[in-house]
Amino acid sequence: MFSFLKLYYSFLLICLSLFPSFLSRATPKYTLTPVTVTTLIDKNATWQHFDAFLDAGRGSHVRGLWELKKYFNHFGYLQGQNLNFTDSFDESLESAVAQYQANFGLSVTGKLDADTVAEVVSPRCGLADEVHGLGHQAMLHATNHFEYFPGQPRWARPMPITLTYAFSPLHMISALPLPKIKEVFNRSFDRWSSVIPVNFTEINDYMFADIRIAFYKGDHGDGEPFDGALGVLAHAFSPESGRLHLDAAETWAVDFGQEMSKVAVDLESVATHEIGHVLGLAHTTNKESIMYPSLKPRTRKLELTLDDIKGVQALYGSNPNYKFGSLLESDISSNQGTRFSIADIKVTTFLLVLMMWLHI
Ligand SMILES: *[C@@H]1O[C@H](CO)[C@@H](O)[C@H](O)[C@H]1NC(C)=O
Ligand SMILES: *[C@@H]1O[C@H](CO)[C@@H](O)[C@H](O)[C@H]1NC(C)=O
Ligand SMILES: *[C@@H]1O[C@H](CO)[C@@H](O)[C@H](O)[C@H]1NC(C)=O
Ligand SMILES: *[C@@H]1O[C@H](CO)[C@@H](O)[C@H](O)[C@H]1NC(C)=O
Ligand SMILES: [Zn+2]
Ligand SMILES: [Zn+2]
Repeated sequence: MFSFLKLYYSFLLICLSLFPSFLSRATPKYTLTPVTVTTLIDKNATWQHFDAFLDAGRGSHVRGLWELKKYFNHFGYLQGQNLNFTDSFDESLESAVAQYQANFGLSVTGKLDADTVAEVVSPRCGLADEVHGLGHQAMLHATNHFEYFPGQPRWARPMPITLTYAFSPLHMISALPLPKIKEVFNRSFDRWSSVIPVNFTEINDYMFADIRIAFYKGDHGDGEPFDGALGVLAHAFSPESGRLHLDAAETWAVDFGQEMSKVAVDLESVATHEIGHVLGLAHTTNKESIMYPSLKPRTRKLELTLDDIKGVQALYGSNPNYKFGSLLESDISSNQGTRFSIADIKVTTFLLVLMMWLHI
């Protein structure tokens, strides 16, 4: 009886340890409908006309293609190029497209296929992406996708750190009430605080705050002008600058039930992303992560993924109250950056119950 129980429990333990990873690797039983059409959000919004470049590849010559080259150059691709861009789809544009596809987790074709164009026209953060050359992801970043700014700057103060933040007294938006904006930033800061020993506290003195939040339209003096509806949504500077700017021309939303515009952008998702930059994280290649560069209109993305958490904890260490950390350590390699799948846990539980029932 004893040995039977022992065997039984060993079997259960083995199943418990095997099933979650086995299930997460199994091929999905359903396939997603492939993206074949680039849906235009608003013809006039920034970059939407890039859909004219659909299916262009090496050797193509398309009017206005120079503008796309400028786009890639601005976001960290096609660097070191003569800025006198032509409309020819040349070899360097092909490798820029391939690098972009690798960074965004798209299939690397070097062509402007539908998925790639859909990503290019998506609104995004104004900061450039980290470009390391093809093959880098596969070799160095098999598990970790998070990135830092050159030199890995962070807020170099003794831990635990308290950073102050303030809202510009002059450059805010009137479409949303200030208390609503403050609530959004309160939650966004607290989200990062919960995983690292860094606290944020609001002060009224804008000039003396570590982190200064402002909404600007167009050119606002830092060499990174905003571009109107969609396109670039916001940008923030690496440590210890503390500047966090949002494009005042966006239709910022806190509740899509109230804000019906099809170009509405979720303020909290963008705030959470930009605070990641303020702390020292650059763009990740992991689609699910907060630090992924783009965000579709009318989309909310608020949860820090393991990729975000590992990245920021490597800079500041873990918040002592963050209990989840050690628990997840063993799953980090296989589940890097993905949210914990409740479904997998449920299936495992179901199998356990089923096995027990069969044994009784
Ligand atoms: C787009 O721009 C054109 C010309 O600038 C204007 O006439 C048209 O009303 C705009 N359309 C939208 C949907 O804003
Ligand atoms: C840019 O390219 C065009 C066409 O190749 C050429 O005529 C022009 O001189 C170039 N300008 C500069 C500044 O290189
Ligand atoms: C940060 O907040 C936590 C919880 O509110 C608190 O225990 C801790 O002392 C704070 N740290 C600092 C540096 O204020
Ligand atoms: C958010 O608000 C709560 C409640 O007022 C406060 O305890 C917390 O410190 C605030 N967090 C930030 C980041 O301001
Ligand atoms: Zn960004
Ligand atoms: Zn700015």
